Amino acid sequence: MKFKPIEWKNDCVRILDQRKLPHEVSYLECRDASSVAKAIKTMAIRGAPAIGVAAAMGIALAGERIRTYRPEIFRREMEKVCNQMAKTRPTAVNLFWATNRMKRILNESVLDVKKKKDQLKKEALNIYREDIDINQKIGEMGRVLVQEGVGVLTHCNAGALATAGYGTALGVLYAAWAEGKRFQIYVDETRPQLQGARLTTWELLQEGLPVTVITDNMAGWLMKKGKIHLVLVGADRIALNGDTANKIGTYSLAILSKYHHVPFYVVAPISTFDLTLTSGADIPIEEREIKEVTCFQGIPTTPKGVGALNPAFDVTPHPLIRGFVTEKGIVQKPFNKNLKKLFSTPNFREA
Ligand code: MRU
Repeated sequence: MKFKPIEWKNDCVRILDQRKLPHEVSYLECRDASSVAKAIKTMAIRGAPAIGVAAAMGIALAGERIRTYRPEIFRREMEKVCNQMAKTRPTAVNLFWATNRMKRILNESVLDVKKKKDQLKKEALNIYREDIDINQKIGEMGRVLVQEGVGVLTHCNAGALATAGYGTALGVLYAAWAEGKRFQIYVDETRPQLQGARLTTWELLQEGLPVTVITDNMAGWLMKKGKIHLVLVGADRIALNGDTANKIGTYSLAILSKYHHVPFYVVAPISTFDLTLTSGADIPIEEREIKEVTCFQGIPTTPKGVGALNPAFDVTPHPLIRGFVTEKGIVQKPFNKNLKKLFSTPNFREA
């Protein structure tokens, strides 16, 4: 990739500030856990896998900064940092998955604080490298879905910017493009934060893939006109039955896809599945400030005093989903049976 959304550099966490894209490419240099937590909260870095990686690096960074040789004090301080990270955003399960991986290392019985700090840093870097590797595998698995000459629609940003690198839904497009297929990519602008218009367009153009932006309310009409043959979206949390939380607007897109017989696929690593939830009903949905809806770049677009809602995610019921593209293969229906198979078979691969 031509850019790195996040990296560990000279003992600080360097984050490409996505709030400023596409106008400005600038980086935050986070030197402590609080600034990483703030970057996640304020969406300088966003996207389910990316916030998991950032949280893990933030926890490792905190480890480096704590000055004590006493394991019990170190552990107590680090527990606080893990809890602080877990409070940054509620919906994407990757954040909790990564935080729990770091907690496991923390709670393994090594008495030497210096060794523990090294282990935590190693685990954070493993999470980072594994994520890039997993995304490339997802791309390999999913590229068969993209046929020469088709129109593909995506929502929000499920690309390199939303991960440690390469991306999930966009990773499938990168892999298909790399094998020589040519196709048209459409992206919903994705109100209210415009992740599609600002971020997906920016990263696709960086990588040399042409992209056409549409407003969210154009998708149905494009499908009606036969311009869309495939929809690929990412995910923030997937329940055991396949119900999927993703950026607000994904649910409407899934309904439109069903009506127009356009295959609708969710592309995500296995770490995005929440095995503790049997259905999507219990997925916590982040509510963000209403000024994201009532203003555009700080300028009000509505009369003063108007009511507004701002759920950041919705849940697409599994019957609307054609399949899941994961690093272990493509999971088709029936999801109850095939997702169980996915979790129990080390090398599951099904098309
Ligand atoms: O609020 P955001 O920008 O963090 O939401 C991101 C999404 O909904 C993505 O589609 C999802 O995290 C998948 S990223 C590979």
